Amino acid sequence: MPARIQSALDAAGVQAAQIEWLWWVMFWVTAAVFVVVVAALLLAVRRGRSTDAPRPDDRSLLRAVASAVAVTIVILFGLLYASAATGRAIGSRPDDKPLVIQITGQQWWWSIEYLDEAPSQRFTTANELHIPVGRPIVLNLRSPDVIHSFWVPNLHGKMDLIPGRLNTSWLRADTPGIYRGQCAEFCGMQHAHMGFVVVAEPPDAYQRWETAQRQNAPEPTAPQQLRGRGIVERGPCALCHTVRGTQAGGRTAPDLTHFASRSTIAAATAPNTPGYLAGWIANPQHLKPGNRMPATGLNAEDLQAVLAYLETLR
Ligand code: CUA
Repeated sequence: MPARIQSALDAAGVQAAQIEWLWWVMFWVTAAVFVVVVAALLLAVRRGRSTDAPRPDDRSLLRAVASAVAVTIVILFGLLYASAATGRAIGSRPDDKPLVIQITGQQWWWSIEYLDEAPSQRFTTANELHIPVGRPIVLNLRSPDVIHSFWVPNLHGKMDLIPGRLNTSWLRADTPGIYRGQCAEFCGMQHAHMGFVVVAEPPDAYQRWETAQRQNAPEPTAPQQLRGRGIVERGPCALCHTVRGTQAGGRTAPDLTHFASRSTIAAATAPNTPGYLAGWIANPQHLKPGNRMPATGLNAEDLQAVLAYLETLR
């Protein structure tokens, strides 16, 4: 699936298309105003310099200023109307049965919980949001500590995640693709590295992904992988991370049950490759200084075993 450039001017969803339209209206109107003002300024400078140009009388000056003010007011009200109409259009939610996803902003990553009326059907992942194309997605946005802002420019505008408050937003992707999103509200040291990925895929592909995500972590087979699982379960990892189907049940860091199926690590800071992952686990503060993951102090052999196990979490 193609990865699209993160841009509000490359709309791939209904609301983003409305916002893009508004952007271009504002751009062309203000560009036209700019051209007219600069032309008037240049004309005034030229007239002011030439000594034989006739001086305008007070009456025509007053008329010129009054009509400029009137045109300005009309343009500003026009833009205000366009802005309000866009706000209305992107806020009204369609009636089709939406998919409800709860997103919790953490310092500095995203916890993503797929809600379902049946609790057994719910599952949690992190930093990679999969959605089916064409279906409305309702987002419940929350934060336990500081204000974040959820923003996928290709799909929708921003919506804040505010502690003590539940904000809801909705979006719908109309084109399959991989879209980058990011936190758009300064939330501390690693705000700039609080990214995420949205994978908008055809409904059947999404359904396969959803079914796989509901499963517990697959059982490792190789001795090194089994050793790695033991270290994850009994070592420092389990204090913060969950791997469903194992004894690791920490709740303060990303759910790792299907970690290997995700394309990035550390909230879209680096690609999920063995090299980056080894560097990240060995010294998390190097790649993303200030983040909450402490150095694990694993020796080289244990680190290799943990890496081998994490690779099985597809
Ligand atoms: Cu979270 Cu900025």
